[in-house]
Amino acid sequence: MSSVQHLYGTPAPQPSNGSKNSTESGDAPEKLHLTSHNQYKTPRLLREDLNPNPLIQFNKWLSSALNPKDNESPIVIEPEAMTISTTTKKGIPSSRIVLLKTVDEKGFIFFTNYNSRKSKELIENPYASLAFYWREISKSVRVIGNVEKITRKESEEYFQSRPRGSQIGAWSSPQSTIVKEGQVQSIVDEKAKEFGENEKIDCPDFWGGWRIVPFEIEFWSGQPSRLHDRFRYTREEGSSGDWEINRLAP
Ligand SMILES: Cc1cc2nc3c(=O)[nH]c(=O)nc-3n(C[C@H](O)[C@H](O)[C@H](O)COP(=O)(O)O)c2cc1C
Repeated sequence: MSSVQHLYGTPAPQPSNGSKNSTESGDAPEKLHLTSHNQYKTPRLLREDLNPNPLIQFNKWLSSALNPKDNESPIVIEPEAMTISTTTKKGIPSSRIVLLKTVDEKGFIFFTNYNSRKSKELIENPYASLAFYWREISKSVRVIGNVEKITRKESEEYFQSRPRGSQIGAWSSPQSTIVKEGQVQSIVDEKAKEFGENEKIDCPDFWGGWRIVPFEIEFWSGQPSRLHDRFRYTREEGSSGDWEINRLAP
């Protein structure tokens, strides 16, 4: 019996050397093949459709993902969810999902614990890559840039707009550290008591926003037969000059 599972689509060809995919004791993962061949189809993306400023282009894409103008395009669920990749000084990468909260004239802002793994890596090596994937409309965006902490005032203002439960959560979670079962909940209970019902909760000094200031942004729009449209904007790191725009092969 084959130990290869096909999650969907037609089974991929089997290796002819009869190699085993799991051990008798069942302690190795079963090999999974994902054999779908989705045909992406969005309107063609052409050079003349692009705004010279990629942040304006991004805002256009984000707002049409949230509020499609025509009634036929689907609404994208949580288009602000983005993968952010950071690296250690040695160049070892790690990725996770965060939520984009602001796009301003300089870049992309998200909020987190400044003692978390991602923040430590951003301090060690102040560059990040973001990736958005909007499945419902077959679009993707990649951003590469250097990072900076936003001002304390900006972090405090945003913190005050968060629900009280999230404010207490920020105070209570030593993000990315090893904790005992139930430990975070008991800190939450303690902090909730400490803050009482109505007392204003200040933004912890170990919590705030990061801004990714891009020097490269790529817009990807899915097309049939993998012949996708890709455009990349680039400019020198730290420059406020014009962006160069190039079509890339899919
Ligand atoms: C949809 C989604 C949104 C998230 N948003 C955030 C966020 O905005 N900020 C954050 O610190 N973590 C967020 N997280 C949790 C992170 O993915 C991650 O677990 C956490 O930040 C710790 O990452 P680190 O240990 O690499 O620093 C989110 C997770 C998901 C799945």
